[in-house]
Amino acid sequence: MKEIINKIDISTKIKNIKLSSCIMNASGALCSTEKELSDLLDSSSGALVTKSCTSDLRNGNPKPRYFEWNVGSINSMGLPNLGIDFYINFLKRKKTNKPVFLSISGFSLKENLYLIKKANLIENISALEINFSCPNILNRKKIFGYDSLYVYKFLKNVFKFNKKPLGIKLPPYFNEIHIKNISSIINRYPVMFVTCVNSIPNGLYINSDTESVVIRPNNGFGGIGGEIIKPFGLANVSKFFSFLRKDIYIIGCGGISSGKDIFDYILCGASAVQIGTQFIKEGISVFDRLKKELKNFLKKKNYFSIKNFFGNLKKF
Ligand code: DHB
Repeated sequence: MKEIINKIDISTKIKNIKLSSCIMNASGALCSTEKELSDLLDSSSGALVTKSCTSDLRNGNPKPRYFEWNVGSINSMGLPNLGIDFYINFLKRKKTNKPVFLSISGFSLKENLYLIKKANLIENISALEINFSCPNILNRKKIFGYDSLYVYKFLKNVFKFNKKPLGIKLPPYFNEIHIKNISSIINRYPVMFVTCVNSIPNGLYINSDTESVVIRPNNGFGGIGGEIIKPFGLANVSKFFSFLRKDIYIIGCGGISSGKDIFDYILCGASAVQIGTQFIKEGISVFDRLKKELKNFLKKKNYFSIKNFFGNLKKF
């Protein structure tokens, strides 16, 4: 029994980056501070993703700025992070075999290019995940991923100098044509992966007893994550899987809280997955639990590797 479980292989590859497990944290979830990052490096996650960084340290939006209920979460964090130099220095100091994805979220095209130039100088960064989907910056109304001209300008410029494997974290799209359009732009450049999806922007959760919003910034509006967004995550992974070049990898994210959820994402075409809300809820042990659940689920299905069912979603 144990024997069979041990033989089940949940390792994966994002092009030439090898992950011992296909499960990693989502950027933003407990990955901002020295302690949180060290705990992730020591955990059984397959890779480390850092909190999206900016040029300078940011305290973020006023609290309360995160709230969770049984099936979801709402946040308007406002990009609290210690600044790119902190994350670079952390990675320079820590020797690790775990792949490291540095998440970058500049406020402009210029800032994003500046941050990527800086990150290009650092050896221990396996890949860059450029966040085109931060929904919570007060006074910045734009989510870059919803502006195809921005995406085009960014890609056209970044590959003039970038040598690092580069991926893009995308917001959820709700129209097939939007996914087709973004895919056709991405397909023209050497993008290594996309991560689908970031939180669903502009949700509102309210407390009926107190008749109030539950987070302070933005009059209570914020990005929605957790179980309730899984169908949108799956839809985006599945559509991007059909429209992107076959050598562009997809990392699935959105509402994963069980091994079966991970199976579903891989079936739709994800090569790896990220855990956000459930990681915040459960803490670092989530990676051991999900690994075990995924292996048990595969055993029941007589699969020995995620390659056995990757992208094989059946249609009527
Ligand atoms: C924040 C939230 C996001 O969903 C994101 O992609 C980046 C940043 C935030 O508010 O900090």
